[in-house]
Amino acid sequence: MSEIVYLNGEFMPLEKARIPVLDRGFIFGDGVYEVIPVYSRHPFRLPEHLVRLQGSLDAIRLANPLTDAEWTRLIHDLVARHPGDDQSIYLQVTRGVAKRDHAFPRDVKQTVFMMSSPLVTPVQDLIDNGVRCITAVDYRWLKCNVKSVSLLGNCLLRQSAADAGAIEVVLFRDGYLTEASASNVFVIKGGKLLSPPKNHLILPGITYDVVLELAAACGIPVELRAVSEQEVRNADEIWVTSSTKEVLAVVTLDEKAVGSGKPGSLFKVIHSAFQEFKRKVMRAAA
Ligand code: PDD
Repeated sequence: MSEIVYLNGEFMPLEKARIPVLDRGFIFGDGVYEVIPVYSRHPFRLPEHLVRLQGSLDAIRLANPLTDAEWTRLIHDLVARHPGDDQSIYLQVTRGVAKRDHAFPRDVKQTVFMMSSPLVTPVQDLIDNGVRCITAVDYRWLKCNVKSVSLLGNCLLRQSAADAGAIEVVLFRDGYLTEASASNVFVIKGGKLLSPPKNHLILPGITYDVVLELAAACGIPVELRAVSEQEVRNADEIWVTSSTKEVLAVVTLDEKAVGSGKPGSLFKVIHSAFQEFKRKVMRAAA
């Protein structure tokens, strides 16, 4: 079966999908995106993803080309056209095709693209034994809350992690934790869960919100505040979260053991709470 994608109002085989070279997504990285995990054919936290998409579009002053009802229908349609029960939906909206000029074009239609890939969640070994991370200075722009397709900073940083055989790179700006190249970051110290608050320096992760809700439900005290580099380096536990990684324990940071060097006890609590929560949500949606 040839992979089906959605482009500007039509479903078509991937090989048929074509974007004009003057698309501002290609020329300027002028667009935004979402990645939505689908479990057992149900898009996870879809309303929340659509709220974040609207926030990204508002931030770049681009009108939403579809209503939430239209997005929802199209996403379900795309899911139905793919065989896997667990999928990862990628959607992208750009400012459309126009003669190259940095300033926005007038009356140009947005480009809307969507595709589905099999959702690859972490293998058991990564859950049981944890992952390695390195650190770097966060040199990205000051609108990291926008899920922009301009990801060169994130790609360069993520490649530095790949070069070091690490899964992620934990980022510090002015001596404080922000996030990782494609994940949010949590720290456990003295039984408390610490993470930076949502602001312009981090992406407001959907998984971040789920982890905070689960921490509250599990009675883990949470502090959302500036977390210093020193606190991260002396943490008992460090976690990275994202729609595709779910929650993973970081066991070495720059080759130094985090806590005991094994996934910590609170990680295990939250990881199993996350799996249980997923099952509950999907049962309710079925
Ligand atoms: N990335 N921070 C950054 C910079 C991210 O790119 C992501 C997700 C997150 C976590 O957000 P969420 O929990 O909503 O997935 C945090 C996606 C998965 C990606 O770009 O592929």
